[in-house]
Amino acid sequence: MLIKKPADIKPSEITDYHLFKRRREFIKSGVGLMAGVGAASFLLNSPAAEAKIKFDRLVKSSFDTDEDLTPYDAVTTYNNFYEFSTDKRGPAELAKDFISRPWTIKIEGEINKPKIYDVDELIKLFDLEERIYRLRCVEAWSMVIPWVGFPLGDLIKRLEPTSRAKYVEFETLVDSDRMPGQKKSLFGSVLDWPYREGLRIDEATHPLAILAVGLYGEELPGQNGAPIRLVVPWKYGFKSIKSIVKIRFSENQPLNTWQDQAANEYGFYANVNPEVNHPRWSQARERRIGDFLKRPTLPFNGYGDQVASLYSGMDLSKNY
Ligand code: MTE
Repeated sequence: MLIKKPADIKPSEITDYHLFKRRREFIKSGVGLMAGVGAASFLLNSPAAEAKIKFDRLVKSSFDTDEDLTPYDAVTTYNNFYEFSTDKRGPAELAKDFISRPWTIKIEGEINKPKIYDVDELIKLFDLEERIYRLRCVEAWSMVIPWVGFPLGDLIKRLEPTSRAKYVEFETLVDSDRMPGQKKSLFGSVLDWPYREGLRIDEATHPLAILAVGLYGEELPGQNGAPIRLVVPWKYGFKSIKSIVKIRFSENQPLNTWQDQAANEYGFYANVNPEVNHPRWSQARERRIGDFLKRPTLPFNGYGDQVASLYSGMDLSKNY
């Protein structure tokens, strides 16, 4: 499969955000008119609809790392996304045509301003930033990715959490027609859908935590969690939930998908910690995708100066 790098994409294949919005509205109205005759897939597969949104005029983040970027091809062809496949090479092919518009995110629970946002409305509300963050997966590989997004805390401020809002829960779409990995096999479901994740509210409002809508200056490809996902760079990658449709504020600590699946292997916090091993393998070293040799893993994935204080007084071998 040919995956184009931004540098190889012709200007005619790239569209700015406002043009993109108008085209999507056109597509939506076309879908409305021709409902029932396969209009959605016809229109969304037309050459105009395949153009990617390009995010320009991005605010520069002060949190960037200056490490070498993982190439676009690697970021978009080596993925964990169980809704499509349990094979890391699978989502690139199976999610590349994922239809991510129209898309709404329902926000509810312990907030004064519950609301259903259209994803494009959210994108318009906040200044998008480019942020170069590492993502360190629990299987001991890592990447350095230029994400496009906005701080989750900026959204949370607008929602006015109540004093009972101690945790924030997230859910991914459930739709086995669009996400074939959610189909039941003879052996049952791969996971108990929807994929769920959660953060403590002080983690969620920390300025490093973002909702990402793009990478490498373009909209997120399906395999990376289109149209909107979490990126929490000091935690193992499974916290960075993809294709979010629901955000809920709650008083009690939620049970996340992997914790539910195997509580002895995956905790609620999942902070990158070279001193606390996964029961089946060491977390002391990691392979940066593209490198031959492994390197030592840094506490909190190298973001300790910014986030260690969130956990002062906690025993991190118990709260793993
Ligand atoms: N989100 C959902 N909905 N489903 C998943 O299977 N996998 C997680 C996380 N978010 C996953 C998910 C894991 S284990 C990792 S390491 C990261 O996504 C990988 O993100 P990437 O494919 O963009 O590198």
